[in-house]
Amino acid sequence: MSKILITGGTGYIGSHTAIELFAENRFDVISIDNLVNSSADTVGRIESITGKTMTNYQVDLVDLEAVRSVFKENTDIIGVIHFAALKSVGDSVSDPLGYYHNNFESLINILKCCEEFDVKNFIFSSSCSIYGNIDKLPVTEDTAVTETESPYAQTKWMGERIIKDFCKVSKVKCIALRYFNPVGAHESGKNGEDVINKPSNLVPVITRTAVGWIPQMTVFGGDYPTRDGTAIRDYIHVTDIADAHLKAMDYLLEGKNEHNYEVYNLGSGNGVSVLEAINAFEKVSGVKLNYVIGDRRAGDVISIYSDSSLAKDKLGWEAQKDIDEMMSSAWKWQQYVLENTAV
Ligand code: NAD
Ligand code: WQD
Repeated sequence: MSKILITGGTGYIGSHTAIELFAENRFDVISIDNLVNSSADTVGRIESITGKTMTNYQVDLVDLEAVRSVFKENTDIIGVIHFAALKSVGDSVSDPLGYYHNNFESLINILKCCEEFDVKNFIFSSSCSIYGNIDKLPVTEDTAVTETESPYAQTKWMGERIIKDFCKVSKVKCIALRYFNPVGAHESGKNGEDVINKPSNLVPVITRTAVGWIPQMTVFGGDYPTRDGTAIRDYIHVTDIADAHLKAMDYLLEGKNEHNYEVYNLGSGNGVSVLEAINAFEKVSGVKLNYVIGDRRAGDVISIYSDSSLAKDKLGWEAQKDIDEMMSSAWKWQQYVLENTAV
C-alpha cells in the first residue's frame, strides 16, 4: 500500500485528512508531530473511527537529522502533506521569531528530505490570511497579495514563495492549498479540534459557550458595513478540506499538473456573518447562546470569501457541506469532549 507522510497528523486538519486517507483503503498513513499543539490521544480517535493505526513520530521538524531518520525508516513514502505549523495569529504577533523559526525551518527541512529521498509529491497548507484586507470579492488565486497582516500570515506567504523557488530547480511537484475558515468535526463526533490553549476562533468559542465553559461570548463588532453589521467569513467543513488533499494528491500522483507548483483556494464561496453562524448553531443544537455585541477585534478584516472555481475545474473538488452541517458536527464533538473530560 502506498505510504503518505502527514506532518501535523495529530492536529485538527491533519487528523481529519488521515481519517479520509485511511477510508480510501489505498494508503498507509504515518505522521510527524511533536505534539506542541495536539495530543497523542488523536491516534486513538483516528483508530476508533477507521480501525487503522497511524504511527506518529514525535519529532520536531526543526531537527533535520530527526526528520531524515523518519524518511530513512520509511523508504516507501510517495507523498507528503505538510500541515505542521504554529497557527495562532495573535501569538505570532507577540513571538515573531518563534513563528518564523518554527514554520520556515520545518518547511525547509521537509522539502530537503523530499528532495534527498526522492519523494515527488508535496502539498502545503497555506491560508486565506495571506490576502489580508481586500476590496474585490470573491478572492481568486490571482488576487494580489499586498501586505500580510501578521507574522503567521507572512510564514504562509513566504512559505509559498520558498516552495515556488524550490520547484523551479527540483523534480518535486508541489501544490499550495489556501484554506479559508475550516470548522466542524468528523460526522461521528469522535474527532474534532483539540483546543489546547484558550480558544479564539469562532466555532470553538460558540460550542464552549453553549456548554457553559465560557460564560458569555462576545461578537467582535456589530457596526461593520455588512448586511447585519457583523464580519463575514467563508467557513468550510474540515472534512471537505481533508477531501481536497486526497484530490490534490491524486492529481499529482496521476501527473495531471500543468506546472511543478500550483496554488488553489479552498472555500465554500459563501460569505456567512458572525450572527448567521450563531443562528445556525442555535438552530441545529437547540441551545440559546449567551452573547453580547462588543468592540471590533484588532486586525480583523470586514469580509472575505473565496472563488474556488479553479479547484473545481482542475482538482474536481467542491465544498459539499453547509454551515448547518459544520455546526452540528462541531456540537457533536463538543459533547463528546464534555463526556470524556474528567472533572
Ligand atoms: P493544528 O495546530 O491543529 O495542527 C498543526 C500540528 O502541527 C499540531 O499538531 C502541532 O503539534 C504540529 N507542529 C507544529 N510545529 C511543529 C514542529 N516544529 N514539528 C512537528 N510538529 C509540529 O493546526 P490545524 O488547524 O490542523 O492547521 C494545519 C495547517 O493548516 C497549519 O499549517 C495551519 O497554519 C494551516 N491553516 C489552518 C487554518 C485553520 O483555521 N485551522 C486555516 C488556514 C490554514
Ligand atoms: C471568525 C469571525 C471574528 C471569535 C483565523 C485566522 C486565519 C485562518 C482562519 C489560519 C471573525 C469573529 C471570533 C469570537 C467573534 N487561520 N469572532 N467572537 O479571524 O477569520 O481567521 O482562522 O490560517 O489566519 O486569522 O477566524 O474564527 O477567529 O473569527 O465575533 O469570540 O468570528 O471577529 O469575524 P478568522 P476566527
